[in-house]
Amino acid sequence: MIDNEITHIPVLINQIMYQIKDIKKGLWIDATFGLGGYSRSFLENTNCNVFAIDRDPDVKKYANTLIKEFKNRFEFKSAKFSDLNKFTHLKNVVGISFDLGLSNLQIKKSDRGFSFKHNGPLDMRMSKSGLKAEDFLKNVDEKTLADILFELGDERHSRKIAKAIFKAKRESNISSTFKLAEIVRKAVPGNKFKIDKATKTFQAIRMFLNDELKELNKGLIAAEKILQPNGLLVVVSFHSIEDRIVKNFFSLCSGKSKSFSKFFPEDKRNKSFEILTKKPLVPTQEEIYNNPKSRSAKLRIAIRTSSDPVHEVAA
Ligand SMILES: C[S@@+](CC[C@H](N)C(=O)[O-])C[C@H]1O[C@@H](n2cnc3c(N)ncnc32)[C@H](O)[C@@H]1O
Repeated sequence: MIDNEITHIPVLINQIMYQIKDIKKGLWIDATFGLGGYSRSFLENTNCNVFAIDRDPDVKKYANTLIKEFKNRFEFKSAKFSDLNKFTHLKNVVGISFDLGLSNLQIKKSDRGFSFKHNGPLDMRMSKSGLKAEDFLKNVDEKTLADILFELGDERHSRKIAKAIFKAKRESNISSTFKLAEIVRKAVPGNKFKIDKATKTFQAIRMFLNDELKELNKGLIAAEKILQPNGLLVVVSFHSIEDRIVKNFFSLCSGKSKSFSKFFPEDKRNKSFEILTKKPLVPTQEEIYNNPKSRSAKLRIAIRTSSDPVHEVAA
């Protein structure tokens, strides 16, 4: 049975549909199926077939609804997007979309352990396999933890938080989301915060456990290989670290990156993409009002050229 109470408003979907309006048919890949909002929109508003993946096994029931409704136009596989290039049957790929981060299914279900707003076991695994956050905290050393909070959470109180977590660990295991949030809130000084003091710590640990930055890099490189000429690469990110990776990838693939030598002749540069969004597109005030979670979203789109990929796909 579907968790009827849980819905997910697809972020920036109107802007995406406007940008892809000239695409009439072919195969669209939804690399982050979630609750299927993007897939449904591609199926309803274009004649494309859709191939969707997600690493979260819990989304299968939402995929089954679309399989029933759209029959042979829709296919779903449980997979990580870093493995997209392993699906060798994908042909005529006219677009690939990545809508990064967590779905409401993950945020709102307390047993997934992603949210400091719901008390639950400290889990945070998108694929429901691998190291749980609770076990990670048991085994990590203080300096490594502080570095992770600083690098993946942009958390300037990383050392204070790591110290507090270590102090608490000596007394008992940190096994619930509420307990971790409480330790972090007490460790961070000051009262004037726009966001919950625990936000950055939860983000950093989740990104580390799910290897999210490496996934994104590999997913983008796979997309470069799979997209046919004129195919669109559409990426929605929710924080600056992810957006920087997308921006740098687009720059490198479109020959704009400084890493190309200025002595390297222009015509020898391999440009696998042209950037369509010089600045990222962001939600309208109305969208933010209707869906506050969209407020930090950034949409970047690039179009595949007919040149060879700039990147080698790792085995
Ligand atoms: C923001 S949600 C997508 C919501 C979707 N666009 C919708 O409208 O319902 C992100 C989804 O991406 C999935 N995801 C995140 N990283 C992934 C990865 N490396 N490979 C496959 N799926 C991933 C998550 O499990 C989550 O379901």
